[in-house]
Amino acid sequence: MARGAAFLGTETAIMCGAMSWVSERNLVAAISNGGGFGVIACGAMTPELLDTEIAATRALTARPFGVNLITMHPDLFALIAVCAKHQVGHVVLAGGLPPKGSVEAIKETGAKVICFAPTLALGKKLLRSGADALVIEGSEAGGHIGPVSTSVLAQEILPELAQDNLVFVAGGIGTGEMIARYLQMGACGVQLGTRFACATESIAHPDFKKMFFRASARNAVASVQIDPRLPVIPVRALENKGTEEFAAKQREVALLLDQGSIDMGEAQLRIERFWAGALRRAVIDGDVENGSVMAGQSVGMVKAEEPAAQIIQTLMTECEAALAGR
Ligand SMILES: Cc1cc2nc3c(=O)[nH]c(=O)nc-3n(C[C@H](O)[C@H](O)[C@H](O)COP(=O)(O)O)c2cc1C
Repeated sequence: MARGAAFLGTETAIMCGAMSWVSERNLVAAISNGGGFGVIACGAMTPELLDTEIAATRALTARPFGVNLITMHPDLFALIAVCAKHQVGHVVLAGGLPPKGSVEAIKETGAKVICFAPTLALGKKLLRSGADALVIEGSEAGGHIGPVSTSVLAQEILPELAQDNLVFVAGGIGTGEMIARYLQMGACGVQLGTRFACATESIAHPDFKKMFFRASARNAVASVQIDPRLPVIPVRALENKGTEEFAAKQREVALLLDQGSIDMGEAQLRIERFWAGALRRAVIDGDVENGSVMAGQSVGMVKAEEPAAQIIQTLMTECEAALAGR
């Protein structure tokens, strides 16, 4: 973990993965002030909004934090320029392979680039293209997910890459015991989302938090793709009416594709806009029936609101106890 912490400039190599609408100034600053690494979720923000959010986060913490940018954002390069203006130290590129020139553009600003590696081959490719660190994220995670579990990704990728490179593990981590296991396999750190979504400092609506406290692992289900042509990335969220609405949205977008009134790129953007809107409804408005309550399978281990610093402390204590006991 010392390698990961040195890379991030933190006390512990525990990252709080960016969560759209949730990972804003308050949670990000609380995580970084608590010894972890907070990451702003840029999501669908405009460059102007990101500019404001970074400045506001800086006002709340003097410690390092990162910015998560979605690769398909139409203004990706303008967002990179905003990160450069604020001398953000770490940029996380999420949501697919980085477009041409984006890794280089970030590195030119002096920032480190963190990428998601969905397979071993792509992990190697990303490192060759300049990624400074990788995150491997399994399908247990909340939000947009890949098809492979964390345990299998860890077995396939850590033995090959973790000795000479910085690899963080994400997805389904709820306790320090689990962190200890991935560290022993060579990970330099971890990324958690679900465990932090309901921290005291998280601005998520009280009803969103309540639903987390009541849920168990089996309630956090992956969305179903109803039309094989649609480029739908599965999303893991707590089951509710919104899950059905997603099926209707897919039918609507598929029909527009059939009619030739939109192309595949536009179809994907419409699906992503649906998720951004649905997540906002749940997180900000507290409409947990119709909105999207994105959560990972570790949600059953989230029982009550706790300050971010305390969650990090508990995880570290459990991790140390697990390592000492072995
Ligand atoms: C409510 C929610 C929203 C999320 N939004 C994003 C996002 O905007 N960008 C991103 O890269 N990951 C997003 N994620 C994934 C997290 O950053 C993190 O990688 C994941 O939660 C880790 O797995 P865990 O949920 O099992 O801890 C989201 C996760 C949740 C629970």
